[in-house]
Amino acid sequence: MTDRRDFIKSLGIISLSGIPTASLLPASFSAIPSLPGPAPSQPTESYWDLVREAFHIEPGLCYLNNGTMGPSPLSVEEATISTIKSVNSNLGYGGGEEVRNHLAALMCCKGSEISLTHNTTEGINVAAWGLPLKKGDEILLTTHEHVGNAMPWINRAQHHGLTVRTFQPAATAQGILDQLDSLYTKKTRVVSVPHVSCTIGQLFPIDQICAWAKTKGIFSIIDGAHGAGALTLDMNRTDPDCYITCGHKWLLGPKGTGFFYVPERMFDVIKPVFAGAYTDRGYDITVSPATFEGYATTAHRYDYGTQNSALRIGLSAAVAFHQLIGPGAVQERIFHLNHLLYTRLAQMGQIELISPAEEASQSMMLGFRHKKLDYAQVAAALMKHPGRYRIRQVPESGLNSLRVSTHIYNSPAQIEGFAEALNSL
Ligand SMILES: Cc1ncc(COP(=O)(O)O)c(C=O)c1O
Repeated sequence: MTDRRDFIKSLGIISLSGIPTASLLPASFSAIPSLPGPAPSQPTESYWDLVREAFHIEPGLCYLNNGTMGPSPLSVEEATISTIKSVNSNLGYGGGEEVRNHLAALMCCKGSEISLTHNTTEGINVAAWGLPLKKGDEILLTTHEHVGNAMPWINRAQHHGLTVRTFQPAATAQGILDQLDSLYTKKTRVVSVPHVSCTIGQLFPIDQICAWAKTKGIFSIIDGAHGAGALTLDMNRTDPDCYITCGHKWLLGPKGTGFFYVPERMFDVIKPVFAGAYTDRGYDITVSPATFEGYATTAHRYDYGTQNSALRIGLSAAVAFHQLIGPGAVQERIFHLNHLLYTRLAQMGQIELISPAEEASQSMMLGFRHKKLDYAQVAAALMKHPGRYRIRQVPESGLNSLRVSTHIYNSPAQIEGFAEALNSL
C-alpha cells in the first residue's frame, strides 16, 4: 500500500518534468484510503487485488468494456471532485496547466507538443481540418475505423472534394504495410489508422506506418484512442505527424478529457481552424484593419478558451496513478489477461475468434462471434447472467460481433468466469 505522502513522493521519482508536485493534487487528496505501490518486477495476483481496491466498481458487475470508457480510481475521482469544490469556493481558476507536462512524460515528448481537447474525436477534427489538403487529394483509412476517425475525414472530404479510400486491414503487421504500399497513388496525402482498432483490438504497426508515410511524403495521423494508458508510448520513436488520444479510456481519467501530440515541425503545417484565448501571440483590434502577430509558439495554438481545471487535475492524477503502477507493468498485465481469454475462446467450438492470430497484432481487446447466436442476444444474455458481464457489441463495419477489453482491475478469475458464462449460452 502507498499512503498519500508516498504517492506524492513517487510523483517526484517519476520526474514529471520538474513540476512542483504540491500543485498536482488538492489537499483533500489525503482522504484517499489506499493506493497500490509500484508493481514489483513479477507482480502477484495479490498485488493486482490491491490495485482493484483503488476502484469502486459496483460489486457483482464484471466490467469488460474498458475500450469504451474506463472507470477512474478513487484518487482520480477525489482530485477531480475536490478541485470542483475548491474552484467554487475560492473562485480561483484552479490551475491544471501542468497536465501538459505530465502527459508529455507519458508520451515521451515535450509539454509544448501537447494540445488539450475533450475527447479523441476533437483532436482528429483538428488534424483533419488543419492539414493543407486540396480537391482530388486522397486519404487512406481502414474499414475498421471508429466513427471518430471516419467522420472527420469524410466531412472534410465533403467540403473540399477529397477522396476517402478504405481498405480492410490484413491480419498481420506485414500484410498491412504491403496493403498501404499497393494502395498508395500520387494523389495520396494522408494515412490515418488506429493504433489499436476498436472493432477487433488489432494492434497496428504504427512505427513502420509512420516511417513508410515519410518515405512517400504523406501525413501520418494516428488515432490513438486505445493508446494512452494501455501501451507504452514513445513519440520520438514512432514519430507520427499527429497522435491523438483521450484520458477517459485506458488512462482511467475523467470523462471528457482528450489530448494530442503534435511535433514542433507540424505547428506551421496543421493550421489552427478554431482560435481564441491563448492561441495567439498577440493581436490588435484598436486599429483597422486588425493586426495579428501569429499563433502561440506551442501546441496551445490548437486549444482555446476556458477549460475545466478539475478535469485537467483529475487527468494529472490519472497519469500519476498510471505511472505509479508502471506503464510497462500495466501493458504486460492487460495483454496477459487478453491472451488468457484468447486462448480460452480458441478452445470453444461455438466461438469464432475474429482478432488476428498473430501475437504481434494482438492487444488488450479481442473480437469474436457466437456461431449460433446473434451478437446482441449474446451481449444481453451475458449481462443477465449472475456474473453480469458487460462487453461491447460491434455493429461497425458490418461485423456484428462482440468485443472484450481487459484492464488492470480485471482478474484471471473474471476471465475464466466470463468464458464459462459464454460456454453456457
Ligand atoms: C478507435 C477509436 N477512435 C476514436 C474514438 C472516439 O473517442 P472519443 O469518444 O474520445 O472521441 C473511439 C471511441 O471508442 C475509438 O475506439
